[in-house]
Formats: sequence, C-alpha cells, structure tokens
Amino acid sequence: MKMPHHVAIIMDGNGRWANKRGLPRIAGHKIGLESVRAVIKGCSEKKIEVLTLFAFSTENWERPKDEVGYLTGQLLVKALEEEMDELHKSGVQLRVIGEIWRLDNKLQQKIADAQKLTAGNLGLKLVIAISYSGRWDITEAVRKLCGEVAAGKIKADDITTEKIGEYISLHDLPEPDLLIRTGGEQRISNFMLWQFAYTELYFTDVLWPDFREKELVDALNVYVSRDRRFGKC
Ligand code: IPE
Ligand code: IPE
Ligand code: MG
Repeated sequence: MKMPHHVAIIMDGNGRWANKRGLPRIAGHKIGLESVRAVIKGCSEKKIEVLTLFAFSTENWERPKDEVGYLTGQLLVKALEEEMDELHKSGVQLRVIGEIWRLDNKLQQKIADAQKLTAGNLGLKLVIAISYSGRWDITEAVRKLCGEVAAGKIKADDITTEKIGEYISLHDLPEPDLLIRTGGEQRISNFMLWQFAYTELYFTDVLWPDFREKELVDALNVYVSRDRRFGKC
C-alpha cells in the first residue's frame, strides 16, 4: 500500500461547529485541538513522515481581534505548553513555518524552545503553518533570490524552477502527497501554492472538530486508490 510520505491539512470548520451548538467560535477552536492530537497520533502510528497543519493564515489576521488573540496567543501557547513533553517523548520533530515575527514575543520564544528541544527527534515531522500563506512563501523566495543576484552570488540566468524550490518552505522534505481539507469548502485558501503542484486533493464535509482517526483513515484509503501520473501517461 503506497502511503503518503507527507500529509497536509487545512483544518477548517471550527466556527461552524461551534455555531451549530450555539457556542462562541472560540469553543470550536478549542475542541479542534483534540482533532490535532488525534491526527498526530494517527500519522505517527502509520509511520507517515511529515504532517503539515494549517493553523492560521496570513488572511486570518483580518478576523475580529478577540478571535485573532485567542488563536495566535492563548491557544497556541497552551498547546505548546501542554503537548510538548508528550510530543518530544514520542519522537516528534516540530517545525513552524510562516511569518513568525508577527506573533507575540512569548509565543515566538515557546516556538523557538520547542523546535530546539525536538530538533534531533527521528519520529513524525510535525509542521505547523502559522501566519502562513503560499504567496508569502513564494514572495520570500523571490526576495532572497534577488538578494543573491544583487550580491553577485548567482546570475539571473541561474534561476531555474529547482533553484526557486530551494528557497521555498520545507524544500528539504518530500512535497505533500495528500492535502486534506475539512469543513466542506473546496479551495486552497492560499496554502502551499508552490508545493501543491502534484498533490492529491481530498475534500470532506466533516468539520475539523469532528475529524478524528477514523476520518484520517478514510482519507488515506482514498489516497491509496488514486492513480498519480505526474503528467506522464
Ligand atoms: C478553521 O476554522 C480555523 C482557522 C481558520 C484558524 P474556521 O475558524 O475557519 O471555521 P469556519 O470555517 O468559520 O467554520
Ligand atoms: C483556511 O481556512 C485557513 C486555515 C484553516 C488556517 P479559512 O476559513 O481561513 O479559509 P476561507 O476563508 O474559507 O477560504
Ligand atoms: Mg473557515
């Protein structure tokens, strides 16, 4: 069975999950953390190499102040405080991608500590995308490449697809084989635009707080039944 090496997830539908129950949106985000736990466990057990979770997009900064504060402050700080020991013990290596500098100093410090603590771990590589967008990622790559050209380190003619790829987040890991999006929408919402060139897309109506190990297995089963051709016949 050809399991994916890298699974990426757009964890969507927390707000609607809470609305349906007459709860504030924040309650949906809180329960969503249980689903995060379940997919980390599921991916670790299935020996998936990389799991990338879209936790907060560049565009999500436009949400009401209290929701932004909860997502980029309390929830992530709490998650790192409560989960890191266990994740470290189970060999998870944590990486965070995105505009980390936009987060508050306390969270930045927690992220730096967690990445340092788990850097040598050999289990699941868990990537959290925070204040991330695909266009930001490509823009960063272009900016860095232009810097290299200006410094005379490379020539404009040296810029190939492979060269750009070297400057994109997670270039040292396998590209995502499978993207799962919960919550019923069928769009990419500015997630990993460069990396998804040949990623298999899987959309489910299940709202993120209801997505657990069974739903992960359903998605993996659909993935293994797909025929990936990469442009060949
Ligand atoms: C996903 O759930 C979590 C984030 C985007 C941070 P939403 O908050 O987008 O939930 P819905 O889509 O409004 O239901
Ligand atoms: C995508 O969900 C971002 C994350 C899950 C972090 P959104 O809820 O922000 O996406 P749209 O607005 O429906 O496209
Ligand atoms: Mg949403």
